[in-house]
Amino acid sequence: MQNDIEPVIEVRGLSKRVKDATGELTILDQIDLSIAKGSSVAIVGASGSGKSTLLGLLAGLDSASEGSVRLLGKELTTLDEDQRAALRSGAVGFVFQSFQLMPHLTALENVMLPLELRAEMPHDQIAQRARSLLEQVGLSQRTGHYPKLLSGGEQQRVALARAFVTHPAVLFADEPTGSLDAGTGYAIIDLMFEMNSRNGATLVLVTHDAELAERCDATVTIEAGRLVNGLSV
Ligand SMILES: Nc1ncnc2c1ncn2[C@@H]1O[C@H](COP(=O)(O)OP(=O)(O)OP(=O)(O)O)[C@@H](O)[C@H]1O
Ligand SMILES: [Mg+2]
Repeated sequence: MQNDIEPVIEVRGLSKRVKDATGELTILDQIDLSIAKGSSVAIVGASGSGKSTLLGLLAGLDSASEGSVRLLGKELTTLDEDQRAALRSGAVGFVFQSFQLMPHLTALENVMLPLELRAEMPHDQIAQRARSLLEQVGLSQRTGHYPKLLSGGEQQRVALARAFVTHPAVLFADEPTGSLDAGTGYAIIDLMFEMNSRNGATLVLVTHDAELAERCDATVTIEAGRLVNGLSV
């Protein structure tokens, strides 16, 4: 635990409510959480408990009903969508539960996209880095494939390569090994922890995988929208 270091993520009184047919539904209820730089945290809990919703709020992909989220020193609730997008593209990698690859781009082009959008590196260098990441996730033979021609596990690996390509300070991943066989899953887990130890990247992972949770510095459990353990890691 590294409580002496300024947290990369600091959450206070975070709630998310949505209107539904029967009135108001509370998805997250008064979450407090603090995550130190360079640490790895697993978020676990039953299906429907609010894990993906929490991850989306921490990454600035969604807006809260109440409370505050500080990510890398910025209060997300005071930023507009464009400012949140800028923060994400600079420092955050996100792997969605549903992968969210661009259907009209090849595997290679999907991985290149975050760096192409930044326009800070020459195209050739971007392609080289993207190819190297696809190789690391075991997909060097599939770089020209469009997402619909890839298996679920292959799409997941492209999504991971895309999240890694910018060397993010914080990697958020929603069940990153969910569609992978054990062998491929281990390789991906190794890759994430290598980023964690080599680049000091903070990992925030939603997972049902006990092995992956075990490798993290801490586990926080969420039950029906409330944290039941682990306030500060
Ligand atoms: N925009 C929304 N409108 C209404 N209900 C929502 C909305 N987003 C999420 N929910 C509900 O909130 C609950 C939490 O959803 P969430 O996707 O965060 O769960 P989860 O813990 O990630 O589940 P899983 O393990 O199945 O992925 C679910 O019951 C879901 O149906
Ligand atoms: Mg989910």
